[in-house]
Amino acid sequence: DNHVENAVEKLESCTQIVDAASLLKNGEVVAFPTETVYGLGANALSNEAVEKIFAAKGRPSDNPLIVHIAAMEQLPSVASEVPAKAAQLMDAFWPGPLTVILPNSDRVASLVTAGLHSVGVRMPDHPVALALIGAAGVPIAAPSANRSGRPSPTTASHVLADLEGRIAGVVDGGATGVGVESTVIDVTVEPPMILRPGGITREQLEEVIGPVRLDPTFQAGAEETPRAPGMKYTHYAPEGEMWLVAGEDPRVREEMKEMLREAKGLGRKTGVLATEESADFWRAHPDADVVLSVGSRADLQEVAHRLYGALRDFDDSGVQFIVGETFPRDGLGMAVMNRLEKAAGGRIRKV
Ligand code: TXA
Ligand code: MG
Repeated sequence: DNHVENAVEKLESCTQIVDAASLLKNGEVVAFPTETVYGLGANALSNEAVEKIFAAKGRPSDNPLIVHIAAMEQLPSVASEVPAKAAQLMDAFWPGPLTVILPNSDRVASLVTAGLHSVGVRMPDHPVALALIGAAGVPIAAPSANRSGRPSPTTASHVLADLEGRIAGVVDGGATGVGVESTVIDVTVEPPMILRPGGITREQLEEVIGPVRLDPTFQAGAEETPRAPGMKYTHYAPEGEMWLVAGEDPRVREEMKEMLREAKGLGRKTGVLATEESADFWRAHPDADVVLSVGSRADLQEVAHRLYGALRDFDDSGVQFIVGETFPRDGLGMAVMNRLEKAAGGRIRKV
């Protein structure tokens, strides 16, 4: 019965965690769920272990990794100092989707920090991640568990699609909750600066520590290099050419129809990144071959949760041209729009 099945499932995940923890202790890389996306973990105090993360992902070595801890006692082994505002943020949002940039301890492997004097640290809000890091007994460096250039994985099967045969294992904890990565904030500058929008919103941060800035290089067309090294890479561009259309309906819908008609005229397989509000319309539209909804516009948490899976699905179905709606940038919308703009490689049409 259900009771027994649940107990068996729990036991299985226990042995998975014990096995994964001993792999981590032995310097291997293992993927695991967090509340944001799946991470690819290794002992953050060992260069030899961390090297395997870069190799498995095909990640450029000038892009530093986030270090994950399970308890505050682990913080001194990672960071040499905790500014007052950082402590306030940890109090308010840990465990949770917030990465805080701190001056690094010299115990952290140099490959983790990519030679910087700072380190990004977070305590994930996921029982499997916390149990695994606790059992490993060392801080765990973990980027998202995708091949470089692919969307971050939100299920164990996304991880396997990218990394099977290249990593020691994956602990399957089902689909992740938040769906986009953690917010990265630098509190070593004043006022503090968001280097990557994510699961904790600017509004939430400002409630706790007052005004925070946004890395100005988020703006489309900015020419400076972003301060978070990872933000400069084309994180993910689908195989197909993706465009966002911004503005008000009905002009947005008219423009999208026009773009799809043109693409079909060129013989391309088309896709629409839609919402619950628009999906039925697009499913009935002859020029839209693949229509994927990311949920209701009124529920940005749902949109964030489903976004990366939808982008992977477009690739899997061989779509060559994608048009998508945009979202207001408040709250979680800032992270959603940042990821969409990256996927579209900055191709936005304003109508
Ligand atoms: O939600 C997340 O943060 C996920 C899960 C697995 O925890 N991890 C994740 O890691 O997204 P990754 O490596 O894919 O992204 C880390 C981002 C990159 O943009 C990197 O450049 C930035 O954080 N970063 C890391 N350390 C930094 C530092 N010391 N200074 C500035 N940026 C840093
Ligand atoms: Mg990543």
